Amino acid sequence: MRLLWLLFPLLLSGQEDFISHYEYGEMLYANPRGVSCSQCHGKVGEGTTIVEYRDIHGLETLKGSDIRQDTLASMIHAVNSYHKVMPRYYLTDEEVKAIYDYLHVKNEKYLEHCRDSNTSKK
Ligand code: HEC
Repeated sequence: MRLLWLLFPLLLSGQEDFISHYEYGEMLYANPRGVSCSQCHGKVGEGTTIVEYRDIHGLETLKGSDIRQDTLASMIHAVNSYHKVMPRYYLTDEEVKAIYDYLHVKNEKYLEHCRDSNTSKK
């Protein structure tokens, strides 16, 4: 705990706001007062397989979507609505923005590439 106080001045200098906002978003993505977003949308929002199961149609996979290119508005909307699979969260717009910004920093290269090659889905 004491070490934290020693490091505190360091955190305050320079990019204090950016770092705390980023870390806040990272924390919320992993632990958004409910099931972690990463469980279904992957480590950095790239999407992942939630579960595979067999039914009369054969092998089915349930996937969490790739949310890397979602807009902030659609993210706020998704988090605040009821879905079949995704739970509804009680996060403020500020908190969703922190998650959104965190994902954008994490996927900077990917998003740049999408813009360059103009293969954006939306
Ligand atoms: C239990 C799995 C699960 C969890 C946990 C989850 N999601 Fe989702 N999410 C989904 C699925 C599946 C969809 C597609 C819509 C649906 O529910 O059928 C979705 C849709 C979305 C969408 C809508 C747009 C799109 O491209 O599909 C956004 C944005 C999103 N989720 C963000 C989040 C964020 C942020 C969190 C954490 C706060 C989160 N999700 C947690 C499974 C999940």
